[in-house]
Amino acid sequence: MLGGAAAHCETKQPASSKDGEYFDAKGNPTYHISPDGKVDWYTYSGFLRYSSECLRCHGPDGMGSSYAPALVDSLKTIDYPTFLATVAGGKRNLGAGQERVMPSLGTDKNVMCYIDDIYVYLKARSDGALGRNRPAEHEPKPKAWAAAQDSCMGSE
Ligand code: HEC
Repeated sequence: MLGGAAAHCETKQPASSKDGEYFDAKGNPTYHISPDGKVDWYTYSGFLRYSSECLRCHGPDGMGSSYAPALVDSLKTIDYPTFLATVAGGKRNLGAGQERVMPSLGTDKNVMCYIDDIYVYLKARSDGALGRNRPAEHEPKPKAWAAAQDSCMGSE
C-alpha cells in the first residue's frame, strides 16, 4: 500500500512540541509523523479541513485542479507567514483572459480556526512525508486543541 509511512525516513523531525502541537526550528507549526505512519492530531484535522474548505478548488490531497494550483507544489516555496496572508487576504491573478480568484477567507471561522492544521497537513504533503488520502492513524485529540477550537469557533 502506498501509505503515509512511505517516505517517513526522509521526514524532518520537529524541533519542539507542546500539548500535541509540533514546531520547527523557527517556531512555526509543523507536522509529526511516526515511523508507523501515525500522524499528529493537527495534521489529521488539517486533512479533514482541507477536504471540506479547499478541495473543491485545489483538488484532492492538494494535487491541484484545472482552476487552482497544486498546493503540494506551492508550499515548497511559500513560507508560513505568506500562506497565512494568502488565505486570509486572497489572491487574484488576471492574465490571458482568464480570471482566477483565491477568495479571501480571513473572516471564515471554518478556515481560520484551523489554519495551522491545514498548513501542517499541506506541509507534510509538500515535503513528501505524507501520502494521499485520509491518514489511517492519528495521535489523540489534545485538550489544548479542543479548548482553542471552542474559543475560536465560539467567539463573535
Ligand atoms: C473558490 C476556489 C478556491 C477555494 C475555495 C480556495 N482556493 Fe486557494 N486559490 C484559488 C485560486 C484560483 C488560486 C490562484 C490565484 C492566483 O494565482 O492568483 C489560489 C491560490 C492559493 C494559494 C497561493 C498558491 C500559490 O502558488 O501562490 C494558497 C496558499 C491557497 N490558495 C490556499 C488555499 C487554502 C488553504 C484553501 C482552503 C482553506 C483555499 N486556498 C481555498 C482558489 C481557491
